[in-house]
Amino acid sequence: MLILMTNNTFTKVREVFKNGAPGEKVLLRGWVHRKMEVKNRVFLVLRDSTGTIQCVVHKDSVPESVWSKAKAITRESSFIVEGVVKPDKRAPGGLEITVSNIEIVGISSIFPIFGRESVEYLLDNRHLWIRSRKLTAVFKVKHTVLDACREFFLKRGWWEVTPPIITMSACEGGATLFELNYFGEKAYLSQSAQLYLEVLIYSLEKVWAITPSFRAEKSRTRRHLSEYTHLEAEASWYNMEDMMRVTEDLIHHVVKRVLEERLEELEFLGRKTELLEDLKPPFPRITYDEAIDVLRRQGLPIDWGEDLGADEERKLTENFDTPFFITLFPKKIKAFYMKLCPSNPELVLGFDMLAPEGYGEIIGGSQREDDYDNLLARIIEAGLNPEEYKWYLDLRKYGSVPHSGFGLGVERLVMWITGLDHIRDATPFPRFRERAYP
Ligand code: 4AD
Ligand code: MG
Repeated sequence: MLILMTNNTFTKVREVFKNGAPGEKVLLRGWVHRKMEVKNRVFLVLRDSTGTIQCVVHKDSVPESVWSKAKAITRESSFIVEGVVKPDKRAPGGLEITVSNIEIVGISSIFPIFGRESVEYLLDNRHLWIRSRKLTAVFKVKHTVLDACREFFLKRGWWEVTPPIITMSACEGGATLFELNYFGEKAYLSQSAQLYLEVLIYSLEKVWAITPSFRAEKSRTRRHLSEYTHLEAEASWYNMEDMMRVTEDLIHHVVKRVLEERLEELEFLGRKTELLEDLKPPFPRITYDEAIDVLRRQGLPIDWGEDLGADEERKLTENFDTPFFITLFPKKIKAFYMKLCPSNPELVLGFDMLAPEGYGEIIGGSQREDDYDNLLARIIEAGLNPEEYKWYLDLRKYGSVPHSGFGLGVERLVMWITGLDHIRDATPFPRFRERAYP
């Protein structure tokens, strides 16, 4: 029984392509990605986590029992094959396996995805569509993105921390809060770990975290999820410019790692990589005022003081081939915690990083208000209850310090790097309004 073999007797598809010598006997296991029958032969494309390889069963050179298994096996069945590596010019990758034995591990019912299905149908069958090579490629890129982020902070001496998801107060405004019953009391799912990270900088100075963030977004857009992966960082003694430099170095580092390790996946996804290869900090910086001027010149009428939506951002990205920053926003369109600009208190020391090619905002950050009275005034101005923010205000009472931070939407970054046209495929189980299945 092939199934009883120990794990290390199996070869992965990638190893076959890397080290497989013609004539070498190998044992592979995986799923039937594709099946084709031609006269006396059955072609089974075996898929494992490392790739796909064609396995050929010849009727005349295997026992009848093996041939009947090859005939019976269905697409997406799990199986084990024993065979010999054979160079073949026509096979993808130049190698195939001549099969000598097969074992069906789990036979598959008719797999309900054939290609060309609608987006909604594929979302209904997400648990099965997830096996697709497209999603597999995206999740491998996402893995490398997360790994590169961790490496970046680790090497620079930042502390990784674990802030809570259950929160008692809003960070990014009440409109997108998910409410929750916490033993009879009102609580919320976190929109951002920022306020907690701010608490931690008084001891650890430079902290970061990856947590799920939740936004009850009312509309379904190509770049909003109700639950997303939020990478956030916060540091004492950093001003806005210091923090902007951290973000551009981070993005540069991540893109570099992805290009080093995930070219195959980017290629499979059809991603053109020139822009990614040319990326080099410092990224261009424009102020909100300049952005408004540029938009007007591009024929998109917008009043000073209005927030930049997806359309405005897309228009602005036409002017850049790299990620770029917009800084110094009007205070009324930004959160209460952003520090007022010393030279113009109508503005805040906030920044957004936008990805080019129409993608738009991937990072939002700012210097934080570190003065007790100013912060209290902003909290009241924003219509929030100062009682709920007493602990947050306390930080400005006990050894306040200039500090800054940012939040990066990991799925937004993955979406841009992989060139996806919708954020849903940057996460295995996307959550939107009206859809949170499975
Ligand atoms: O700009 P946002 O709302 O900023 C904050 O939450 C700050 N408290 C972060 C901080 O300074 N620590 O969100 C930060 C980033 C955005 O730039 C975007 O990339 C992503 O989070 N994001 C979303 N991603 C997917 N779906 C959504 N609904 C998102 N909302 C924000
Ligand atoms: Mg933002």
